Amino acid sequence: MHRIKANGANIPCIGLGTWTLSGGACRDLVANALDVGYRHIDTAASYGNEREVGAGIRASSVARNEIFVTTKVWYTDLHAGDFRRSAEASLERLGLDHVDLLLIHWPSRTIALAETIDALNAARENGLTRHIGVSNFPTSLLVEAIRLSRVPLAVNQVEYHPMLDQTKLLGACRAEGMAMVSYCPLQRGRALLDRQEVVAAARRYGKTPAQVVLRWHVQQDGVGAIPRTSRRERLAENLDIFDFALSDDEMNAISALRRANDRICDFHFAPEWDPV
Ligand SMILES: NC(=O)c1ccc[n+]([C@@H]2O[C@H](COP(=O)([O-])OP(=O)(O)OC[C@H]3O[C@@H](n4cnc5c(N)ncnc54)[C@H](OP(=O)(O)O)[C@@H]3O)[C@@H](O)[C@H]2O)c1
Repeated sequence: MHRIKANGANIPCIGLGTWTLSGGACRDLVANALDVGYRHIDTAASYGNEREVGAGIRASSVARNEIFVTTKVWYTDLHAGDFRRSAEASLERLGLDHVDLLLIHWPSRTIALAETIDALNAARENGLTRHIGVSNFPTSLLVEAIRLSRVPLAVNQVEYHPMLDQTKLLGACRAEGMAMVSYCPLQRGRALLDRQEVVAAARRYGKTPAQVVLRWHVQQDGVGAIPRTSRRERLAENLDIFDFALSDDEMNAISALRRANDRICDFHFAPEWDPV
């Protein structure tokens, strides 16, 4: 498994996203994913599936210390006491004594970032997580979070796929030695997978459009991706991207789709995004 080195973290560059997975299906998919080679699982307190994710980890044949587990604290729990309780409750549900990465799921518009970054650091110092990071932080907030943190942040997890321009944010992450982990990496299987630039490359390499898009992610320095699938057969497909490489022309043609600037995850509590 290819990995990204990010301020002390060693992150498998493909992980399994678990948003919307639930119940026994979630447990079985997590276990299957680990058994076919995944070593990175992404969940969050708000996904309501941490118990099933933990059960899947235990049902797999893979040792805990080989798995990179990420969870997140929801944006309404960013005061220090709430933050600590949320992280501890996540560990209890997962059945783990620590996670590998703890993220602020979304920045808050009302809770001071300094208080939350202090709580995030305290979670690491108290052994709840090995590494810390943020999610959905645009560049200006990321710079502020980095300034406030006592240790380097490892990750900013953000929406990223070829139809969304994240050039500025990726540059900021790289400048700080951080990884940028792409969520919605397949644009949720929308029009992207039918784009001629993607389909043509897929034909050339005997790969699927989804594999081409995931390859496009991991071929960028410091970028990882956490595709989600509810289908067992696609677990292996989404991991089987390390035996081919896109040419510079193919990378550039797919990157040029960013002109669409088509963002999926935009909510009333979202921060002001980077201008493009
Ligand atoms: N930090 C945040 O705020 C945040 C926000 C959103 C998501 N996330 C994380 O990122 C993960 C991934 O994002 P996402 O689930 O929104 O979107 P995604 O991974 O881009 O897309 C998932 C969709 O793509 C389909 N798909 C998966 N593999 C495929 C393949 N090989 N070929 C064709 N279609 C395929 C899936 O359908 P099937 O199930 O039918 O395969 C599903 O409908 C989430 O699960 C979550 O862990 C984080």
